[in-house]
Amino acid sequence: MSFQSSFVLFLGSLLFLLLIATSFGQLQVDYYRNTCPDVESIVRTAVERKFQQTLVTAPATLRLFFHDCFVRGCDASVILAKRNGAAEKDNPIDLSLAGDGFDTLIKAKAAVDSVPGCKYKVSCADILALATRDVITLTGGPSYAVELGRLDGRISSKASVRHSIPHANFKLAKLKAMFASHGLTLADLVALSGAHTIGFSHCSQFSRRIYRFRSRSRIDPTLDLGYAKQLTKMCPTNVDPRVAVSLDPTTPWIFDNQYFKNLRQGKGLLTSDQVLFTDRRSRKLVNLFASNSTAFDQAFVTAMTKLGRIGVKRGNQGEIRRDCTMVN
Ligand code: HEM
Ligand SMILES: *[C@@H]1O[C@H](CO)[C@@H](O)[C@H](O)[C@H]1NC(C)=O
Repeated sequence: MSFQSSFVLFLGSLLFLLLIATSFGQLQVDYYRNTCPDVESIVRTAVERKFQQTLVTAPATLRLFFHDCFVRGCDASVILAKRNGAAEKDNPIDLSLAGDGFDTLIKAKAAVDSVPGCKYKVSCADILALATRDVITLTGGPSYAVELGRLDGRISSKASVRHSIPHANFKLAKLKAMFASHGLTLADLVALSGAHTIGFSHCSQFSRRIYRFRSRSRIDPTLDLGYAKQLTKMCPTNVDPRVAVSLDPTTPWIFDNQYFKNLRQGKGLLTSDQVLFTDRRSRKLVNLFASNSTAFDQAFVTAMTKLGRIGVKRGNQGEIRRDCTMVN
């Protein structure tokens, strides 16, 4: 083969690889540069407005994104409604997803579609990924570039949630396995758990730790005793099931590394939180994130980016939904 023909062959295969990469492969930060170049600022404005009306917007949206990505991938399947009540969001686990998260997505989607050029051009899954980054920034967390190009899924099933979302009483082995099944490492697990630096949990999620633990005192010994006493005051045995307690008792509305400092003091609200410190395998990471907020921010952004790549749909696997709650 002459030099020229092999060079042409080389260029040809390079072009081919490039085509594959752009049509099936990676998400891109500037995915909408030609179709809806202002999508980032449109979403940010809508999310800021919603956040100013109610602060709960932030934790609600962040948890919604996590639950979307862990069930059938980041495809906005968590938003779909079904008349027969058998949608993902109808699973008891997802019934505790706060309505303000859904509302944030609906409002941001309406804002995007109100711009003529953008109408029906941006997926609900991408809008949720952008809104999630925006609420993290609005509560004081790191800002980061969001990869885009996800399509919306057409399937939502109540049954698929049960074995996909981690439980509050999981220990490290189960947490690790569940995150590893999505390609997420131990460092990703610990960093992402830092999302519990904002938001709330209902008493039922941890009441076993303060009332029915298998120890003489009935209280989980990994809990700080003073904190446990506070929790029994906020969550008496006859508590209204709607009562919710801050996941981060120190700075509940600020996205910071306080969550990890709390864990070192026995102030992790859920078993799945405290175990990150009590288990030697993850303790080093907790100590690192507690003592170095830059290290936490970096690890969190890395892990969020990986979370956002789970089960992404392209081509005929999905669509751009006109109404986020219904398939087209
Ligand atoms: C590591 C395993 C995890 C477990 C076992 C877990 C479990 C829970 C539970 C039980 C609640 C309280 C639900 C309620 O009673 O209303 C909660 C709340 C929350 N979770 Fe997680 N979670 C995990 C990981 C994550 C991740 C990775 C994120 C996001 C990246 C996240 C974000 C949130 C947020 C923001 C809230 C507060 C929601 C609100 O106030 O509306 N969680 N989580
Ligand atoms: C904190 O973490 C960052 C990022 O990993 C690192 O560059 C920096 O040196 C660390 N700071 C200290 C005081 O260890």
